[in-house]
Amino acid sequence: MKIAVFGAGLMGHALALVHALGGHTIRITDSQPGTLERSLGLMQTALGTLRDAGEVDASWTSERLASVVTRCATPAETLEGAELIVEAIIEKPDAKRALYAIIDALAPMDVIIASNTSYLDVFPLMPERRLKRTLIAHWYTPPYLVDLCDIVGNEQTDPAVIETVRKLVADMGKVPVVMQRFIPGYIANRIQSAISLEVNRLIDEGYATAKDVDDAVIHGLALRIPILGHMAKADFTGLLLTQAALANRMYEPPVVQGNSPTVDRLVAEGRTGVMSGKGYFDWGGRSPDELFRERDQKLLALKRALREIGHMEGK
Ligand SMILES: NC(=O)c1ccc[n+]([C@@H]2O[C@H](COP(=O)([O-])OP(=O)(O)OC[C@H]3O[C@@H](n4cnc5c(N)ncnc54)[C@H](O)[C@@H]3O)[C@@H](O)[C@H]2O)c1
Repeated sequence: MKIAVFGAGLMGHALALVHALGGHTIRITDSQPGTLERSLGLMQTALGTLRDAGEVDASWTSERLASVVTRCATPAETLEGAELIVEAIIEKPDAKRALYAIIDALAPMDVIIASNTSYLDVFPLMPERRLKRTLIAHWYTPPYLVDLCDIVGNEQTDPAVIETVRKLVADMGKVPVVMQRFIPGYIANRIQSAISLEVNRLIDEGYATAKDVDDAVIHGLALRIPILGHMAKADFTGLLLTQAALANRMYEPPVVQGNSPTVDRLVAEGRTGVMSGKGYFDWGGRSPDELFRERDQKLLALKRALREIGHMEGK
């Protein structure tokens, strides 16, 4: 398929790589020329990590990637021959609305438009006549390692369009989850938001340190999840316990204040995470490049092991 990718930032360049590796031909653009320029190099670096880990075959050289990815200066050039548009521009409604108007003016009516928006209801931003062939296909960073893609249409989206994108994602070896209707954050991000609210409460109110939380997550919560997910784990525990836990209200959702004093203090100190060398943790003066590489290598090793072990899923 011929795919036009709008946005070459954190997600756009990585989605271009994912779709190129899936056998598609990519045209990509960004409103910042520097970002567009840099994007192919970032794709080639990520490709190298995948090749070294044996996730893609050796024929996927940097040159081969460059031959299927064209960087384009204008929307018109980007849309040449496009059958699918992957929209991965900044998460601002005005910017998305403006881009959709440009696409509406330039693209053929049969093009499929897939937005990678994290939380926005993009459908009201889209010209009405495009809604039938518009949907959200939402990925997780980095999408060349995280396989999940949330897919959701609007009320007018043609079911055949949803099926085309679902199949395209599945054929790339990824895992599409088609939701019945839109809700901001989809499934995994909503679960993650709930976890984030809870752990920040535990830290802010002095119940636990960041290290305690991660020890509990890594050594308790996480071990079963890759094999069982959450719902199958409940079946193994038994629904009587689930019923009792719900009835006893062991869990009270934290009061949502919209901020965490701990996070605010860390950010004010310039501790914004791995990119600044420190966040909740001190990353020991190691460069972001080195840390991201180590993370990616460990994630790839885990994926290999999990593929071998397999999952337990109910029907
Ligand atoms: N960062 C994540 O983890 C993540 C995960 C899933 C989805 N998303 C979603 O993906 C989208 C992109 O996020 P990101 O993290 O890559 O942001 P980013 O800031 O890294 O990249 C966005 C890019 O869009 C470009 N841009 C802005 N207007 C444009 C236009 N009209 N045409 C072309 N390019 C334009 C910007 O120059 C920028 O390079 C957002 O909708 C975001 O919610 C992000």
